[in-house]
Amino acid sequence: MTGKKRYYLTTPIYYVNDQPHIGHAYTSLACDVLARFKRMDGYDVHFLTGTDEHGQKVAKSAEDAGTDPQGFCDRVSRNFRDLAGAMNYTNDDFIRTTEERHIKSCQALWNELIGKGEIYLGKYAGWYAVRDEAFYAEDELKDGPDGRKIAPSGAECEWVEEDSYFFRLSAWGERLLKFYDENPDFILPPNRRNEVVSFVRSGLRDLSVSRTTFSWGIPVPGDSRHIMYVWLDALTNYITGVGYPDTGAESWKRFWPADLHMVGKDILRFHTVYWPAFLMAAGLPPPKRVFAHGWWTNEGQKISKSLNNVINPLDLVATYGLDPTRYFLLREVPFGQDGDFSRAAMIHRINSDLANDFGNLAQRVLSMINKNCDGKVPEHGPFLPADTRLTDAAYNLVHPCRATLDVQAFHKMLDEIWAVVGQANRYVDEQGPWVLKKTDPARMHTVLYVLAETLRCLALLAHPFMPQSMDRLLDQLAVPQDARNFSVLTARHALKSGTELPAPQGIFPRFVEDGARS
Ligand code: MSP
Repeated sequence: MTGKKRYYLTTPIYYVNDQPHIGHAYTSLACDVLARFKRMDGYDVHFLTGTDEHGQKVAKSAEDAGTDPQGFCDRVSRNFRDLAGAMNYTNDDFIRTTEERHIKSCQALWNELIGKGEIYLGKYAGWYAVRDEAFYAEDELKDGPDGRKIAPSGAECEWVEEDSYFFRLSAWGERLLKFYDENPDFILPPNRRNEVVSFVRSGLRDLSVSRTTFSWGIPVPGDSRHIMYVWLDALTNYITGVGYPDTGAESWKRFWPADLHMVGKDILRFHTVYWPAFLMAAGLPPPKRVFAHGWWTNEGQKISKSLNNVINPLDLVATYGLDPTRYFLLREVPFGQDGDFSRAAMIHRINSDLANDFGNLAQRVLSMINKNCDGKVPEHGPFLPADTRLTDAAYNLVHPCRATLDVQAFHKMLDEIWAVVGQANRYVDEQGPWVLKKTDPARMHTVLYVLAETLRCLALLAHPFMPQSMDRLLDQLAVPQDARNFSVLTARHALKSGTELPAPQGIFPRFVEDGARS
């Protein structure tokens, strides 16, 4: 185990003030695909997700629901756990910030920061947006109706004056800029990086890291009038999840620093400014990368409860199936940019990419093998240049897939796979195995063997996106479980001629315009 390469990735932990929606499903899905890919590529992966349960926003939601905060969190947190099951996510752990291990970890980090003189007691007077759980400077705000102050996110701010502990963030500007400079891929995509660099360059103010006007949070050690600021509490989950404060633990030594924190663009500043500053101040190494993805709109409109257009991922799965939903979310929009969800686009993608391109290829090849090769992996004769051109493309595909996924370009990885799907479909048309059946049956066997090998590679590489469908395809090619990884992918001619194959079945449904399966 110790010799294996490692990969630690995290989703944001989700606020339990709300039901899971497409945005939550999206962030976790991207992580799931990466986690599955890395495991198939021989890595020891740790994939963490969970729920963010403290703070004023959650306390208020519990109060509105007439429930005690803990009972409320228990109930809503369960929905996020259930979503992970329904979406087939392979997270290794699910952390809740109300767990004892996390409280211990936050208090240990706090003591470390106090001990190093990075936190001091003062008084906060300024603007706060409960919806964002964020402090804002006056010059960041716009004037709203009735003298209200509005944050750049659109959230309403309130004036807060209370005793507070402060983190000496102002002292970290230069060191953060140096860190970004030395680690050019720390923030991706690059436009997000520029945004953060100019924010830090404009000067940082010390950050209020405790609250006294409500009590739903982790008590500050040695001063129980204060609870910790919810973002300090929440960000710490990433180290709790690998054993902090036990820095001698196997999990800590193996997995920290994290390889990737996947986040939405709205929470970039917390992850790329506050978090590395907290860690460096505590003498801990910062994570290697933060990737900020874009936001979904629904049929052109911002998604919001008040517009009543929130997309429930479970409804998509019920209508379109799990794997087509997973595919669509990562294919439709270049990862990192904002994107629009529409039923028409979803149906179009499913029909053209899945049912037509990939599904047809699989169906044509498997049913010809079933009818003409005795239902067994065909024997092959000598390979012609056209054959090796296709199989080489399939075997080599793992390289661009690795490269695109290493910069979280999921859409580009799918483009690479579909280029070979297209090449395989053209090869079928050019070789005409149905003609060869009459003119040169031995050659037909070779052509079908080449296509079966190509399908094997395609199914393995598409597996992280669509695990159930690709497992069904690999079952139909009789690929053993222990060969469903990338080291066997590149083993040439891994399919053994003469292996008995099960009866072929379609893997992707086709939809008509109203969303029904045809
Ligand atoms: N609790 C904080 C994160 C703490 S991490 C230490 C939080 N939670 S959240 O539940 O509000 O949001 C979680 C994620 O969902 C964020 O990454 C956010 O960008 C994402 N999304 C929320 N709405 C979204 C869309 N409409 N589209 C895509 N992602 C969106 O923030």
